[in-house]
Amino acid sequence: MREDIRTEEDIKQLVHTFYDKVRADDRLSVIFNEVIKDNWDSHLQTMCDFWSTLLLYSGRYRNDPMSKHKVLPVDSAHFGKWIELFQETIDELFSGEAADAAKKRAANIARVMQTVIGVTK
Ligand code: HEM
Repeated sequence: MREDIRTEEDIKQLVHTFYDKVRADDRLSVIFNEVIKDNWDSHLQTMCDFWSTLLLYSGRYRNDPMSKHKVLPVDSAHFGKWIELFQETIDELFSGEAADAAKKRAANIARVMQTVIGVTK
Protein backbone atom coordinates (compact mmCIF):
# COMPACT_ATOMS: atom_id res chain seq x y z
CA MET A 1 0.00 0.00 0.00
CA ARG A 2 1.24 3.51 -0.81
CA GLU A 3 1.91 5.77 2.17
CA ASP A 4 1.82 9.56 2.41
CA ILE A 5 4.89 11.84 2.17
CA ARG A 6 6.13 12.13 5.76
CA THR A 7 9.92 12.11 6.01
CA GLU A 8 13.05 13.55 4.43
CA GLU A 9 13.66 10.07 2.99
CA ASP A 10 10.26 10.29 1.24
CA ILE A 11 11.20 13.71 -0.21
CA LYS A 12 14.47 12.28 -1.47
CA GLN A 13 12.68 9.37 -3.14
CA LEU A 14 10.16 11.75 -4.76
CA VAL A 15 12.82 14.16 -6.05
CA HIS A 16 15.21 11.50 -7.34
CA THR A 17 12.48 9.45 -9.05
CA PHE A 18 11.00 12.58 -10.65
CA TYR A 19 14.34 13.81 -12.03
CA ASP A 20 15.14 10.32 -13.35
CA LYS A 21 11.98 10.71 -15.46
CA VAL A 22 12.93 14.28 -16.45
CA ARG A 23 16.36 13.14 -17.58
CA ALA A 24 14.78 10.36 -19.67
CA ASP A 25 12.42 12.79 -21.42
CA ASP A 26 13.70 14.21 -24.74
CA ARG A 27 12.01 17.60 -24.49
CA LEU A 28 12.95 18.36 -20.85
CA SER A 29 16.39 16.76 -20.70
CA VAL A 30 17.74 19.15 -23.37
CA ILE A 31 16.91 22.16 -21.17
CA PHE A 32 18.21 20.63 -17.94
CA ASN A 33 21.41 19.23 -19.40
CA GLU A 34 22.31 22.59 -20.90
CA VAL A 35 22.10 24.34 -17.51
CA ILE A 36 22.86 21.62 -14.95
CA LYS A 37 25.66 19.96 -16.96
CA ASP A 38 27.40 17.62 -14.48
CA ASN A 39 26.06 19.36 -11.34
CA TRP A 40 23.12 17.02 -10.85
CA ASP A 41 24.03 16.18 -7.22
CA SER A 42 23.82 19.84 -6.29
CA HIS A 43 20.55 20.39 -8.24
CA LEU A 44 18.94 17.34 -6.62
CA GLN A 45 19.97 18.59 -3.17
CA THR A 46 18.44 22.03 -3.93
CA MET A 47 15.23 20.34 -5.08
CA CYS A 48 15.09 18.18 -1.91
CA ASP A 49 15.48 21.39 0.14
CA PHE A 50 12.71 23.04 -1.90
CA TRP A 51 10.18 20.22 -1.52
CA SER A 52 11.06 19.59 2.12
CA THR A 53 10.39 23.29 2.80
CA LEU A 54 7.03 23.15 1.00
CA LEU A 55 5.82 19.82 2.39
CA LEU A 56 7.65 19.31 5.72
CA TYR A 57 8.28 22.99 6.61
CA SER A 58 12.02 22.42 7.09
CA GLY A 59 12.82 25.98 5.94
CA ARG A 60 15.99 24.88 4.14
CA TYR A 61 15.09 26.47 0.80
CA ARG A 62 15.34 30.27 0.94
CA ASN A 63 15.85 31.18 -2.70
CA ASP A 64 13.52 32.55 -5.38
CA PRO A 65 12.81 29.87 -8.02
CA MET A 66 11.14 32.29 -10.48
CA SER A 67 14.24 34.23 -11.55
CA LYS A 68 16.16 31.08 -12.53
CA HIS A 69 13.40 30.09 -14.94
CA LYS A 70 13.10 33.46 -16.71
CA VAL A 71 16.12 32.75 -18.86
CA LEU A 72 15.10 29.23 -19.92
CA PRO A 73 13.86 28.60 -23.49
CA VAL A 74 10.64 26.89 -22.38
CA ASP A 75 7.04 26.91 -23.63
CA SER A 76 3.75 25.51 -22.34
CA ALA A 77 4.59 22.03 -23.70
CA HIS A 78 7.64 21.88 -21.39
CA PHE A 79 5.47 22.83 -18.42
CA GLY A 80 2.78 20.34 -19.46
CA LYS A 81 5.30 17.50 -19.52
CA TRP A 82 6.94 18.64 -16.26
CA ILE A 83 3.57 18.54 -14.47
CA GLU A 84 2.59 15.22 -16.08
CA LEU A 85 5.82 13.56 -14.87
CA PHE A 86 5.57 15.11 -11.41
CA GLN A 87 1.99 13.91 -10.89
CA GLU A 88 2.85 10.48 -12.29
CA THR A 89 5.75 10.20 -9.82
CA ILE A 90 3.59 11.16 -6.84
CA ASP A 91 0.84 8.73 -7.85
CA GLU A 92 3.31 5.87 -8.30
CA LEU A 93 4.95 6.37 -4.91
CA PHE A 94 2.57 8.04 -2.46
CA SER A 95 -1.03 8.51 -1.44
CA GLY A 96 -2.60 10.88 1.08
CA GLU A 97 -3.06 14.52 2.04
CA ALA A 98 0.57 15.59 1.62
CA ALA A 99 0.73 13.76 -1.71
CA ASP A 100 -2.37 15.62 -2.90
CA ALA A 101 -0.95 18.90 -1.58
CA ALA A 102 2.31 18.31 -3.47
CA LYS A 103 0.45 17.86 -6.76
CA LYS A 104 -1.60 21.00 -6.17
CA ARG A 105 1.42 23.08 -5.12
CA ALA A 106 3.38 21.97 -8.18
CA ALA A 107 0.52 22.76 -10.58
CA ASN A 108 -0.04 26.14 -8.95
CA ILE A 109 3.63 27.13 -9.02
CA ALA A 110 3.89 26.00 -12.66
CA ARG A 111 0.87 28.15 -13.55
CA VAL A 112 2.26 31.23 -11.78
CA MET A 113 5.75 30.59 -13.15
CA GLN A 114 4.44 30.61 -16.72
CA THR A 115 2.79 33.99 -16.10
CA VAL A 116 5.86 35.44 -14.38
CA ILE A 117 8.29 34.32 -17.06
CA GLY A 118 5.90 35.26 -19.87
CA VAL A 119 5.21 31.91 -21.54
CA THR A 120 2.86 32.77 -24.39
CA LYS A 121 2.60 29.55 -26.39
C1 HEM B 1 9.24 23.75 -17.97
C2 HEM B 1 9.41 23.27 -16.73
C3 HEM B 1 10.69 23.47 -15.97
C4 HEM B 1 11.98 23.41 -16.42
C5 HEM B 1 12.48 23.10 -17.84
C6 HEM B 1 12.83 23.70 -15.28
C7 HEM B 1 14.21 23.75 -15.32
C8 HEM B 1 15.03 24.12 -14.29
C9 HEM B 1 16.46 24.30 -14.39
C10 HEM B 1 17.30 24.10 -15.64
C11 HEM B 1 16.90 24.69 -13.16
C12 HEM B 1 18.33 25.02 -12.76
C13 HEM B 1 18.48 26.54 -12.84
C14 HEM B 1 19.86 27.02 -12.48
O1 HEM B 1 20.54 26.41 -11.64
O2 HEM B 1 20.28 28.07 -13.03
C15 HEM B 1 15.74 24.74 -12.28
C16 HEM B 1 15.79 25.07 -10.96
C17 HEM B 1 14.72 25.03 -10.11
N1 HEM B 1 13.41 24.70 -10.45
FE1 HEM B 1 12.74 24.34 -12.31
N2 HEM B 1 12.06 23.91 -14.18
C18 HEM B 1 10.75 23.78 -14.55
C19 HEM B 1 9.64 23.91 -13.73
C20 HEM B 1 9.69 24.06 -12.38
C21 HEM B 1 8.54 24.05 -11.50
C22 HEM B 1 7.08 23.90 -11.95
C23 HEM B 1 9.02 24.22 -10.22
C24 HEM B 1 8.28 24.27 -8.90
C25 HEM B 1 7.19 23.53 -8.65
C26 HEM B 1 10.45 24.33 -10.31
C27 HEM B 1 11.30 24.54 -9.24
C28 HEM B 1 12.64 24.78 -9.33
C29 HEM B 1 13.48 25.18 -8.20
C30 HEM B 1 13.04 25.34 -6.75
C31 HEM B 1 14.78 25.34 -8.69
C32 HEM B 1 16.03 25.74 -7.91
C33 HEM B 1 16.26 27.24 -8.09
C34 HEM B 1 17.42 27.69 -7.22
O3 HEM B 1 18.59 27.50 -7.61
O4 HEM B 1 17.15 28.20 -6.12
N3 HEM B 1 10.83 24.23 -11.62
N4 HEM B 1 14.63 24.39 -12.99
